[in-house]
Amino acid sequence: MEPILPGAPWLIAHKSMLGVNQPKKITLNGKDYVIWQNKKGEVFALDNICPHFQAPLSEGWICQERNTITCPFHALEFDGAGKLYKAGKLDTQPITQPLELIVKEDCLWTYGGYEPRLPIPELIQKVTEEYEFIGVSGEKSIQADFLSSMLVNYDYNHQNGTHKDLFEITSCDVKSYQTNGYYAKVEQYITRAENTFGEILKNPALGIIPKVMNNTLEYSFPSITTFLAEVPVGNIVQTHIVYPETENVTKTFILLYGKFKNPVFKFLFQKSFLQAAATVIDQDTTAVESLYERQKSKIRLPNEEIMFDVEKLYRNW
Ligand code: FES
Ligand SMILES: [Fe+2]
Repeated sequence: MEPILPGAPWLIAHKSMLGVNQPKKITLNGKDYVIWQNKKGEVFALDNICPHFQAPLSEGWICQERNTITCPFHALEFDGAGKLYKAGKLDTQPITQPLELIVKEDCLWTYGGYEPRLPIPELIQKVTEEYEFIGVSGEKSIQADFLSSMLVNYDYNHQNGTHKDLFEITSCDVKSYQTNGYYAKVEQYITRAENTFGEILKNPALGIIPKVMNNTLEYSFPSITTFLAEVPVGNIVQTHIVYPETENVTKTFILLYGKFKNPVFKFLFQKSFLQAAATVIDQDTTAVESLYERQKSKIRLPNEEIMFDVEKLYRNW
């Protein structure tokens, strides 16, 4: 496939998604890689295709002592630099390609082998200076192209439809919209109807999400959206991540950060905030996957300029 936005920085995983000494396959721009993390928290990534007979290394296993991955087919071993390990020692030259990773705030970034065209965004660093990491939620491969999957995060008219169920959103207004190149910031004002007792029982976070919410969204094109919501128990930041797996499949997940007024609130509500975040992703995914092929729209709604601005960034890359 033609790579999507070559040279963009992609956040392909958070360390907490990897486990220890467990190979994980990730796909970026049509290429498969295997990633693993050792006990010390060091992370390695290689081309997933074994250079012997092309078996998927991600189906293999890690040798903890030697820090190598073993191919599941003929059990050849490679280290994180792609060097073959045989007869008790490492080859001098790599025979398979490592994927270059940049680790920041426990997030794994990569340019997928392309010349960087944008720096690694600072949004997550800004969040981690103030908030603690709560967890990852809603990891999913959306069966839709990257542009449609990304645009839903810039669409301020989908809340009352897509997120009506459970979140009971009745209106969403944009109070301010500033943009500066690949960065954008939006302040929105959301109103919600009452949840039923049954809904709150199923997800207690709904009981404390206010009926009127002032949220701040910050964007770093093309991969990150942070959504800051003030709730009575503290502040929650949902960081939405997207990256292109293939032409028609887009990976997404949410990194959830929080600052609770009392540790008890964290204990009581973190699970239900994670669950609510997963529901948001499910709802967006269903909406995007059910779309027919894009055509020129015959209707304009307020605050759609931001979507057109972003689409321009995408097309003029
Ligand atoms: S295919 Fe990997 S060792 Fe043979
Ligand atoms: Fe949404």
